[in-house]
Amino acid sequence: MTVKIAPSVLSSDFARLGAELAAVEAAGGDWIHIDIMDGHFVPNITFGPAVVKAMRPHTKLPFDVHLMIEPADPFLAAFADAGADVISVHKEGGAHVHRSLQVIRSLGKKAGVVLNPGTDVGGLEYMLDEIDLVLVMSVNPGFGGQAFIPAVVEKVKKVKALIGDRPIHIEIDGGVSTANAGLLARAGADVLVAGTSVFKGGTEADYRRNIQALRDSL
Ligand code: DX5
Ligand code: ZN
Repeated sequence: MTVKIAPSVLSSDFARLGAELAAVEAAGGDWIHIDIMDGHFVPNITFGPAVVKAMRPHTKLPFDVHLMIEPADPFLAAFADAGADVISVHKEGGAHVHRSLQVIRSLGKKAGVVLNPGTDVGGLEYMLDEIDLVLVMSVNPGFGGQAFIPAVVEKVKKVKALIGDRPIHIEIDGGVSTANAGLLARAGADVLVAGTSVFKGGTEADYRRNIQALRDSL
């Protein structure tokens, strides 16, 4: 199983988003992870569908859109139209996450469900037919650059056991670095979001070195 690296633009230079996307693609990133925050579900605000749409022409890489907004349902179509390829919603983000997942699929996009660090994997077994991805948070969402929560490794193993042979990605988000990437991959993760650890340095050459270091650590 090849592990994908998904640079998180939360750690990029927002004033140069287009150039940052091109740089991280040239540097070997696999997916672009885009954090949408509303200042209500999480204590921070980032960007909306118009910004995602403006980013779309600057890279061919899939857009992995992580919605940290409540409610999410009124905005699913807008993010699909803006060019999202994967849209993930939090299990804690509303009473009807199963419905949100169905809507995302009906929009022709891959559907992901996100588990906060304090959320149990229980209930996931009832969503397996509706999802293409499980996003396991390894920090409490809202900010880049936080410390990795080690208990997540055991959680990933549980998620992997539930998924079995189904073609469902397991993605990890928060504090991913060369210190834990190998551990996460061995536990069953196949998509690693990395903000700080990819964008540190600030140049395309740095991004290439940082992405390669993550791959080498697997
Ligand atoms: C946190 C976001 C992450 C963030 C990860 O709420 O969901 O995607 O960008 O950043 P790092 O890799 O710096 O922990
Ligand atoms: Zn994220």
